[in-house]
Amino acid sequence: MLPLVALFLLLITMAAGAPDLRPGFYAETCPDAELIVRDVMEKAKAREARSAASVMRFQFHDCFVNGCDASLLLDDTPNMLGEKLSLSNINSLRSFQVVDEVKEALENACPGTVSCADIIIMTSRDAVALSGGPFWEVKLGRKDSLAASQKDSDDIMPSPRANASYLIDLFDKFNLSVKDLVALSGSHSIGQGRCFSIMYRLYNQSGTGMADPSIEPNYRESLYKLCPPPVDQNVTGDLDATPQLFDNQYFKDLVAGRGFLNSDETLFTFPQTRKYVRLFSQDQNEFFKAFAEGMIRLGDLQSGNPGEIRYNCRVVNSRPLDILFES
Ligand code: HEM
Ligand SMILES: *[C@@H]1O[C@H](CO)[C@@H](O)[C@H](O)[C@H]1NC(C)=O
Ligand SMILES: *[C@@H]1O[C@H](CO)[C@@H](O)[C@H](O)[C@H]1NC(C)=O
Ligand SMILES: *[C@@H]1O[C@H](CO)[C@@H](O)[C@H](O)[C@H]1NC(C)=O
Ligand SMILES: *[C@@H]1O[C@H](CO)[C@@H](O)[C@H](O)[C@H]1NC(C)=O
Repeated sequence: MLPLVALFLLLITMAAGAPDLRPGFYAETCPDAELIVRDVMEKAKAREARSAASVMRFQFHDCFVNGCDASLLLDDTPNMLGEKLSLSNINSLRSFQVVDEVKEALENACPGTVSCADIIIMTSRDAVALSGGPFWEVKLGRKDSLAASQKDSDDIMPSPRANASYLIDLFDKFNLSVKDLVALSGSHSIGQGRCFSIMYRLYNQSGTGMADPSIEPNYRESLYKLCPPPVDQNVTGDLDATPQLFDNQYFKDLVAGRGFLNSDETLFTFPQTRKYVRLFSQDQNEFFKAFAEGMIRLGDLQSGNPGEIRYNCRVVNSRPLDILFES
């Protein structure tokens, strides 16, 4: 993982020259955009409950890597290693087809109008609301990137083994506060993680050959049962006790030593973050309010690089020059 200093250099190029984002950006050009997105997300969730969590996660993995520009959605090409196979994403990110379905519905209604980057922002918002969480107004008007970088994703996205002080510094680089970090981690109120993501904390935390001592013993036993050696890295477990409901159970679990990932439980073990975990565990409204604010700030991250409205979220639009060179 890249030292934070180098990461900073990568980030200061962000924000300049980015378009202004605003609510109602498609009011004239695609008035039903938000209704269409909501409808597709609702059907996807009815088909497979977990897809809400899987789609919501896209906002984090897209926006942290060169801004919210749908770079995450680009498939690899012979000339470009994209982000789908980066360390944090391979065998882990899923439900890309839900975004494809949304895009198809929007292309039918208003061709070439709504960016894939905005689709990620809208589906994430709807996934949370449809799971019982808060609803917030989203700013729109993002452009889609012309490229993606596996290396940038590898360098930036945090490991599930990260501790709170590392995460505080990382989020600070994106102008996200300690409170934002804790609130946004509350996204783990829905969804699942793999044994791959917890095998070190179960069997060799910090090279001790033992489990992370902060795991509550009964919960530890259930995790051992979920991920017995030799660990099947693809087996998944729930990130909190109510994995389909967006609520503050995640924070109650952290207080009880029942956080799934090291990066979850560390928020309760470290004093700088503990007070927010306590607050959110006791007051769901405070959590919902802080979460919505954090998601809006996360959605504001932009690279300032040139962009386009992709027709297909998986590939950049073909350009006349490309066609010349290919023939
Ligand atoms: C604070 C640092 C974070 C770390 C280290 C982290 C790490 C992880 C890991 C390791 C998983 C399980 C992946 C697997 O085992 O396949 C996961 C799942 C998930 N993450 Fe995070 N995450 C963080 C923050 C966030 C944020 C900010 C969001 C959204 C705003 C988010 C949304 C999700 C969701 C919804 C899932 C479940 C996905 C599913 O069920 O398919 N995470 N995260
Ligand atoms: C947190 O993690 C970082 C990076 O892995 C490490 O350098 C640091 O020593 C850890 N801090 C504490 C207090 O454990
Ligand atoms: C963080 O805020 C500062 C000051 O407003 C700004 O210069 C910088 O570009 C922001 N960084 C990011 C990653 O948005
Ligand atoms: C645990 O981690 C340490 C340090 O990374 C390593 O030297 C040791 O071999 C590991 N033990 C096992 C059982 O994997
Ligand atoms: C996990 O599943 C993926 C397919 O989703 C497969 O390619 C990979 O080999 C599996 N990994 C392990 C360790 O079983």
